[in-house]
Amino acid sequence: PLPVVRTVAALRAQVAAWKAAGERVALVPTMGALHDGHLSLIRLGNARADRTVASVFVNPTQFAPHEDFDSYPRGEGRDAELLASAGCALMFAPTVTEMYPDGFASAVSVTGGVAGPLEGQSRPHFFGGVATVVTKLLNQCQPHVAIFGEKDYQQLAVIRRFVKDLDMPVEIVGGPTDREADDLARSSRNAYLTPEERARASALPAAMKAAVEALRGGEAVEAVEAGAISALKSAGFAKVDYVETRDGESLERLGPGIVGTGARVFVAAWMGRTRLIDNWAV
Ligand code: PAJ
Repeated sequence: PLPVVRTVAALRAQVAAWKAAGERVALVPTMGALHDGHLSLIRLGNARADRTVASVFVNPTQFAPHEDFDSYPRGEGRDAELLASAGCALMFAPTVTEMYPDGFASAVSVTGGVAGPLEGQSRPHFFGGVATVVTKLLNQCQPHVAIFGEKDYQQLAVIRRFVKDLDMPVEIVGGPTDREADDLARSSRNAYLTPEERARASALPAAMKAAVEALRGGEAVEAVEAGAISALKSAGFAKVDYVETRDGESLERLGPGIVGTGARVFVAAWMGRTRLIDNWAV
């Protein structure tokens, strides 16, 4: 069975032993409820390092009070089995008090730039919580490399930004989005979907692929985005937070008719009570 540690001290002791033996260490931060997308990152870690550590921690500070922290799926036994099957060397599963002991009073904040638009607008508390917990995880584990999914493309961009800005000595690697047969991106939150909602959610990758084709064909950005929004709404998405075409590095908005290489289309939309996000390269 997969070794599990729950304290920073135990994590550090194991990582220090590996480093003393000359081994490279990768970290894959997760909130558990693992699926093949997470496991693809573990395999990427093993391709980049000798040992891959997975953290499993549902981080309360990246959820707003009205969001799904309490109902977020949790299942440590299953997660440990999946991690072991993917070749993970160690699971770090701290408690909330290990991460945020009494008196905790600090935060890492990314103000503006890549953290400003999209999720930064829809979930204003989110990137502060992510930046703080990822900084802690990187300091706790001190890996050579940390792996994050392109599924959460803006999160990856925000992490690259603060790691660079704060001179954190770690390499950040992005892994491709793992998708189901209909191209819906795998997500722990897909478990919230009823079977009918799951069937209707196929419209999301379909709308994104149509948008990418239209942009490649030279259609105007605004028209393509409006078309995707109405396709999502007619497929039963109750609310569309955004469909926006932005530069893949700066995440800046692209002007009409200047979609070229490096552009990406970003989407966030609600199927029932489930918020789904995705992004596609143009
Ligand atoms: P979580 O949603 O559990 O995702 C953990 C990692 O898996 C993230 O880097 C995410 O981008 C990646 N991932 C999720 N679905 C994926 C898919 N279908 N294909 C490839 N990678 C995928 O993202 C978080 O947790 C948290 O914000 C965290 C970074 C752990 C900080 O709390």
